[in-house]
Order: sequence, then structure tokens, then C-alpha cells
Amino acid sequence: MSYPPQQFPNPKPAQGNLLESERVAARHFGADWCRFGVGGSTQANLAICLALGRPGDRVIVSRALHRSLFSGLVLAGLEPVWIPPRVHRATGLPPGITPSALRRAAALAPDAKAVILTDPSYLGTLSPISELARIAHGAGMALVVDQAWGSHFGFHPALPSHALARGADALITSVHKTGLGHTQASLACARVGLLDRARLERGFDATHTTSPAGSILASIEGSLALMGARGEELLGRAIGLVGEARQQLRESLGPVGLPDESQFNGPEGPLFDPLRLVVQLAPLGADGRAVEAEMLGRGVAVEYADRDILAPVVTLADDRGTVRRLVREIVLAVRATGGGPARPVRPPASWRVRPEVAMSPREAFFSGHERVPWRQAAGRVSAELVAPYPPGIPVLAPGEVISAHHLRGLRAAARGGSRIAYASDPSLSWLDVVSER
Ligand SMILES: Cc1ncc(COP(=O)(O)O)c(C=O)c1O
Repeated sequence: MSYPPQQFPNPKPAQGNLLESERVAARHFGADWCRFGVGGSTQANLAICLALGRPGDRVIVSRALHRSLFSGLVLAGLEPVWIPPRVHRATGLPPGITPSALRRAAALAPDAKAVILTDPSYLGTLSPISELARIAHGAGMALVVDQAWGSHFGFHPALPSHALARGADALITSVHKTGLGHTQASLACARVGLLDRARLERGFDATHTTSPAGSILASIEGSLALMGARGEELLGRAIGLVGEARQQLRESLGPVGLPDESQFNGPEGPLFDPLRLVVQLAPLGADGRAVEAEMLGRGVAVEYADRDILAPVVTLADDRGTVRRLVREIVLAVRATGGGPARPVRPPASWRVRPEVAMSPREAFFSGHERVPWRQAAGRVSAELVAPYPPGIPVLAPGEVISAHHLRGLRAAARGGSRIAYASDPSLSWLDVVSER
């Protein structure tokens, strides 16, 4: 098959359409640099970590991080100063990072090159990014935001602006999560100044395939173009539908917990993504994992389910029909699996982690390792990353001391039916630790 010359697009992506698409996206985000990726926010996080400093430099990082950021620290040899997660008493959700927590970390590590935050959290809570950017910049540190779950931010007035508009120096987002990109579609963009364009470019190229799928790249442009042209209309509809879903669930299920913007407030406005539907089952005595299994049996999948929480993802592709079906299926599944007495919410172990750091993630990664039975693991230094999924936030991470508390939390999650992700032995009978010899 041959194309007439004028209809044959330049197939070398870096020279033609891709470059222009990335320029358009950079203008939208107010960025000096933007790259589209085909390895998800995972690759974009690795890329940005490689642009932040030199091996041995410190960075302040929210401990409620995705494993890809942890891998980025290993790759780049950066040493984390952790901001530990907290639990919001009324809802049991992990709230965002507070200005005082960042100030404390910056006082502990005034030499840190950057602050790396995850915003929004997996369950829709937000940090006051503008205030945090002022604090980071006042200390001479760049602010990087893993906004993987917020590709819709900035496209509707009821939503937070994207992180660059709120003062961050770099953002990473998965266009395939709340946007309409193909699976793996992501982008990273940054303002230069505290970050260096050549380092960003080198970090991105070092982690990116040299054979990216054009269809994934085109889907990023398509998703951004749709959000730009009709985002306000479509996201407005989706946000309205989430509100209706909460109302219908309340009417059908009574005391179900439905956290929303009214419970998470800060000086910059609500600190909760209004598109995030989080259904708390503890007041009904129902078990989220059984509810999920029942729903799956009826062909409806939700993004997140643990004992206490069910969190489906509603996007701009949904309409009243799909959201009504979702509500109907949740109600049917809760009734079919049966409730029990109301119980207090028990936040997963991931949100109660207090890491005790023995060595850097990189040192632990490259040290000699040995495998020990779990009963002998307390007090040893973890050689592996172990995270109950959901939420996928590491409870054990390379270089951190394993405590009896961690082991109890992980084993309780495993007994309760959570998948123990990334562990070398998902049954948790054995753990990989750093050799003492
Ligand atoms: C906060 C966060 N960052 C990064 C990622 C990785 O994103 P991706 O699956 O697009 O590689 C995820 C995935 O769930 C995430 O939740």
C-alpha cells in the first residue's frame, strides 16, 4: 500500500506531530517542558527523580507514595526524608500533607533538593499545594507533584487547578486513569528554574522506550483536546452524577459513609476531589471484599475495595445510565452479602506506617540479601518493598527496619484477603532482608 505524499504523515514522532502536541500541552499547563509517555506515571516518576539531584542528595517525600517513586529514589540514589502519613479521624482516610508537616521536614533537611508529594491521594484527598509550594520555594526546594490520579484537574471550576497552576515545579499524571488515554498513557511537565531542562530531558529519555506506540501518544493528545473543548460540560455532568450517586446510596443503604468535600477543608478551599466516590461500608457492617466479589460476578468492577471501603472510578465518559447501574449493583451486592453490626473504620496498615530508616533505598537495593521466616524478620532491615493492594502504598520498603507492628498489619491484611503486592513471597511466610554478614 502506498500513500500519496501529501497524506503520509511523518512517522518519526519526535520530529513532527508529537513535538507539536507536547508544545500545545506545555502551553496548557504553563510549563516550559512537557513530554508524553507510554510507560504510565511509573516511567514519568522515574524520569523526574533522575532530574532532581545527585546520588546522596536528600529529598523530602510523602511516605504515602506509589512504588514507582520509590524505584525512582533507588535509580537516582536520592535519600528520602519522609513525611509520614496521617489518618483523618472522622473518615479513616489519609488526608493530604499539612504546611506544618512540610515545615518540620524542611527544618530537619534544609539541604533537601526537592519535595515530592502525591496529590490527590488514591482516595481523593488533597494537599494545599499553593501553600506547600511557597514553603518549598522559601527553602530553595523544587516541588514535584505525582498527580497520577488528577489528570482531570484544572478542567472544571469545581475541581482543583492542576499542580503547576498551584505553584508546583513539576507534575506527573496518568492520562489513562481519570482521563481517556489508552492504558499506559501519561505525561510529565515542568517549569525550569529550580529544575533543569537538560536533566529533565535526559531523565525522560533514559527511562522511555525508543519504540513508543503512536496510538498511546495520540490518545494523550485526544484526551487533552477533549477535556479542553468539552471538559467543563462532561466533568460537570460526572461531578453531578457522583453527587446523585451519594444521595441514592444514602437513601438505599441508610448509614453508609460517603466522605465528600464538606469534610476536608483548607484555606485554599475543599481538600477533596469532588469526582471521587468513596463508599464506606463499616457503618453497615458489610465487607468491601465480599461486595466487590459479588459485583464482579455480575460483571461490574470497582477500582478499589478493602474491608471497609469501596471506591469505583467515575469519569467524564460516564453518564446517568452507567452511574445508576453502578449504584444499583452496589446496593444489590451489599444486600446479598449481608451486613452486620456497625464497626469503626480500621485504616489499612499503609496509612499508619512510621518508617524507621536504617539505610538508603539504593544501599538496601544493592546490598546482599537473605530470606528469613517472618517470625525472625522483626528488627531486620527490609530488602524488599511490600504493599497490601489496595492501596498499594508500601508498608515495608528497602532500607527500613521491619517492626512487629508492620508484620501484624501485613499479616492481618493478607488474612483479610488483600493481595500482598510486590512481595517476593506473597503469603508472607518469608521475607527478604538485608544480610548482616
Ligand atoms: C499515585 C500514583 N502514582 C503513580 C502511579 C503509576 O501510574 P501508572 O499505572 O500510570 O504507571 C499510580 C498507579 O496507580 C499511582 O496511584
